[in-house]
Amino acid sequence: MGRGKFITLEGVDGAGKSTHLNCLAELVRQRGHEVVLTREPGGTRLGEELRTLLLGEPMHIDTEILLMFAARREHLAQVIFPALAAGKWVISDRFTDATFAYQGGGRQVALDRIGTLEKWVQGDFQPDLTLVFHVSVEIAEQRRAGRSGGDRFEQLDKAFFERVSTQYLSRAAADPGRMRIIDASRSVTDIQKELEIIILSI
Ligand code: TMP
Repeated sequence: MGRGKFITLEGVDGAGKSTHLNCLAELVRQRGHEVVLTREPGGTRLGEELRTLLLGEPMHIDTEILLMFAARREHLAQVIFPALAAGKWVISDRFTDATFAYQGGGRQVALDRIGTLEKWVQGDFQPDLTLVFHVSVEIAEQRRAGRSGGDRFEQLDKAFFERVSTQYLSRAAADPGRMRIIDASRSVTDIQKELEIIILSI
């Protein structure tokens, strides 16, 4: 049996990526693959504990980045690597591109510092496919406003989300073989049609 594929979903909060997770999983199952659906920060018992802290507790930015990568290391060891080795496909709601976009773009931490931790934690390992759900920050803001609660990140200002969005777009432009930008301002049906084509092509 061959190694499975690793697909990640990215985008600013409110871009609508979570709406498409299950549909994407179903498309992959229809191709005959077993699917593991997971998320970051989180995906393991320890990772979910770290998620609670990361989304709720104010902390130093270095602590924030280190905890994101600590959760990721555990996620890779316990979930992602074993599943891929067993031939399963893994779909993760966010991965390392989120750290570059949020902590690098949003919080303006030097990208090479994040790159150092990326190398440490995952070596050259990268997703096979990353879908970046893109909408204007205004639309994302409206979508977030319709939700209850909101974590520490969702409360940040428009300029923060502009920087996050710009960073996602520039990463996608630099790595078009892995990253695809999905125009998420369209209808759910139109987006699902595009996802179907993409999944058939990988
Ligand atoms: P979610 O709401 O999409 O599950 O993501 C949780 C929040 O965590 C979201 O606001 C983005 C943020 N985040 C980072 O800031 N850096 C990261 O590396 C990851 C994985 C998520």
